[in-house]
Amino acid sequence: MTDTCTATAPSSTANLGPGFDIFGLALNLFEDTVKLTRKQTKGNKIIINRIVQSGPEIPLETQQNSSGLVVKKMAQDFKISDDIEIEIFKGIPSGYGLGSSAASSAAAAYAFSKLFKLKMDNNLLVDYAAEGEIASAGTKHYDNVASSLLGGFVIVRTLPKIEFIKMLPPEDLNIIVGVPQIRVPKKKTEAARNILPKNVSLDNVIQNISNASTVVAGFALKDVQMISKGINDMIIEPVRKELIPSYEIVKKYALDAGALALTISGAGPSIIAILKTDVNSKKIISAIQDGFNESHIESKVYLCKPSNGAKII
Ligand code: HSE
Repeated sequence: MTDTCTATAPSSTANLGPGFDIFGLALNLFEDTVKLTRKQTKGNKIIINRIVQSGPEIPLETQQNSSGLVVKKMAQDFKISDDIEIEIFKGIPSGYGLGSSAASSAAAAYAFSKLFKLKMDNNLLVDYAAEGEIASAGTKHYDNVASSLLGGFVIVRTLPKIEFIKMLPPEDLNIIVGVPQIRVPKKKTEAARNILPKNVSLDNVIQNISNASTVVAGFALKDVQMISKGINDMIIEPVRKELIPSYEIVKKYALDAGALALTISGAGPSIIAILKTDVNSKKIISAIQDGFNESHIESKVYLCKPSNGAKII
């Protein structure tokens, strides 16, 4: 008997300003597809057979590959000894800060749970998907995988136990994603995490808690203006913006053109701008491109909306 199961999972943006490693929002911009095939042999083998992609090379070794790590861990924990073939169709360019590795992880975890008819709650499923983040970020973190798997806006809780709170975004929330065409290091997320401060000031913590609370209140009240008011980060953005050429200029131009807020998408280098409707979108897209142009950098800029989560196709 040969069984297969194929799942897709969308791109996502993490942090939304003050919610480092806590906030994630699924975006309907790109998606990854992962097909798992249960082979007729039982050798505990995970074979990554095919990666169809554009952009930088994605490693084929199970230990280095997001989907591979997820499938290996789930097979071990659920004592599944069937050989499993993985095929990955990358729709999300890697290295953009749009949850590319997270989507491959989320799709792999979702497909695995369906293929082997495993009964588990969403919290455990996201925890398995987060295994894949070790391949790109060096550590497990949940914001991108949780939103990619569950869809919508997700708040991550890790203590006393792993738990995710999903909220449906306001219908009128529009996001512009700007991707500067710059070279990023191979393990970009890990590199962007290594530069972060180990200690932070109490004043900045207080401001970030205030802003994060405002973001959550905005999602609860379906109020895009309120979400935008909270997208202001005192801790991570000041350090990471140095990795993004023209960041302050891009931000100023976008806000002047009518964006309600602008921040770094996850570990960057992409940025996200928040809009209440798509009315000003053309002006804001041009403003973002003009901002990057000041540093002679080409950019790809997209308008998108929040997305649903992973699904079986
Ligand atoms: N919260 C993560 C970070 C998202 O900012 O490092 C990147 O995957």
